[in-house]
Amino acid sequence: MTHPIDLAALPRDFAWGVATSAYQVEGAVAEDGRSPSIWDVFSHTPGKIDNGDDGDAACDHYHRWREDVALMKELGVTSYRFSVAWPRVLPGGDGAVDPRGLGFYSRLVDALLEAGITPNVTLYHWDLPQVLQDRGGWPARETAERFAAYASVVAEALGDRVRQWATINEPLCCAWIGHLEGKMAPGLTDITAAVRASYHLLLGHGLAAQAVRAAAPGSRIGIVNNLSTVAPASDSEADVAAARRMDGHTNRWWLDPVTGRGFPADMLEVYGVDLPERPGDLATIAQPLDWMGLNYYFPVTVADDPDGPPPFARQVDRPGVPRTGMGWEVDAGGLESLIMRLTEEYGARRIYITENGSAYPDTVSADGTVDDPERTSYLERHLDACARAARRGAPLAGYYAWSLLDNFEWAYGYDKRFGLVHVDYGTQRRTVKTSGRRYRDVIAAHRTHASDEDQDPVAVSA
Ligand code: FCB
Repeated sequence: MTHPIDLAALPRDFAWGVATSAYQVEGAVAEDGRSPSIWDVFSHTPGKIDNGDDGDAACDHYHRWREDVALMKELGVTSYRFSVAWPRVLPGGDGAVDPRGLGFYSRLVDALLEAGITPNVTLYHWDLPQVLQDRGGWPARETAERFAAYASVVAEALGDRVRQWATINEPLCCAWIGHLEGKMAPGLTDITAAVRASYHLLLGHGLAAQAVRAAAPGSRIGIVNNLSTVAPASDSEADVAAARRMDGHTNRWWLDPVTGRGFPADMLEVYGVDLPERPGDLATIAQPLDWMGLNYYFPVTVADDPDGPPPFARQVDRPGVPRTGMGWEVDAGGLESLIMRLTEEYGARRIYITENGSAYPDTVSADGTVDDPERTSYLERHLDACARAARRGAPLAGYYAWSLLDNFEWAYGYDKRFGLVHVDYGTQRRTVKTSGRRYRDVIAAHRTHASDEDQDPVAVSA
């Protein structure tokens, strides 16, 4: 049973993408001069990752990238979002460039272009060189400055072929989960470090946007945030206030500064930490955004939690709602409302869904196929939510499924599979799942519709 998708609502040149990130897929962590990142150190710290997994081998994409580009071509995707590993390009964090690391990305970009796939490059997807962590990490201002220098090196090398750039992926996870909850690298639990990290991540975004524009004029630059709709667990005043704080923590803290509104005053009070602000910073952070990236996975429901950590709001599980293998609630309507919020409240010029997807425990059947009806349904419902937002006038320009491949899912290791393509980690064999085939058919149906549009303006769905 397939869920219909109103494909006619999506623009002709809609980008049909898949996404990955360097540490989650590349492996080859000690090759070609790459230095350790904070994720190498974190994943090798006992007790941090389920099953004691690490990203040493991951999907071996560093060696198998040709095969992976061929897979993308087979699916018919028109864009690939991947990230560049800072410790491959500048193993010392700054200073000397390793041409071997840059060469890898340069060859990948060439192969993508040859396959008719537009690269969408993320400069930072959490793999800070450990040497920079040792010098203070994101809580230190110098990291933002070094990030801009690194961005400039990458833009100079790839900017003749890459137009679409994202500065930072999900600064929320890096700051809040990495520095406050301690569940991601670098594993701190310190509100002062977390707030300072959040500030310097956004400053780094602004500085890097300037650096990329200077090195590669004509670039289209965005930032990628993971957002959630937030609802109170009850209509009590305390829960409603908690929901407002969680909305500040999850959404406004990241969206307000980059769109020129500064940091939300209510949240400054909630955190109680002085910002390390210098004159001019807010303008730097609020660089013009050619596009906004939205990663969406789940909605949250919260109750007041005065004794918990900031923002003093506790996530509560709503009983009886469908969940993915991550335990995350499935709610495609949340995606539609966040796209509309970026459109109406934040005036986004262009929006890409830079990640969306689901993990479920897959089984490989005797004939080698992987049938994943739940992931397929999640994909269809969220694509239709995109179409609904587009019908309502949102400037939605593309969708990137998370993920092309099953991969190293951070603290959850390899057990959580998000791929449209199954990876057998023993053999590195790739198998397109039912969801991958469905995505291919949806893309093909949209393409047919887009090319027929002039002759036959009848609404189609897939
Ligand atoms: C996002 C991350 C991405 C992936 C998905 C499931 O938070 O950006 O790397 O792990 O979640």
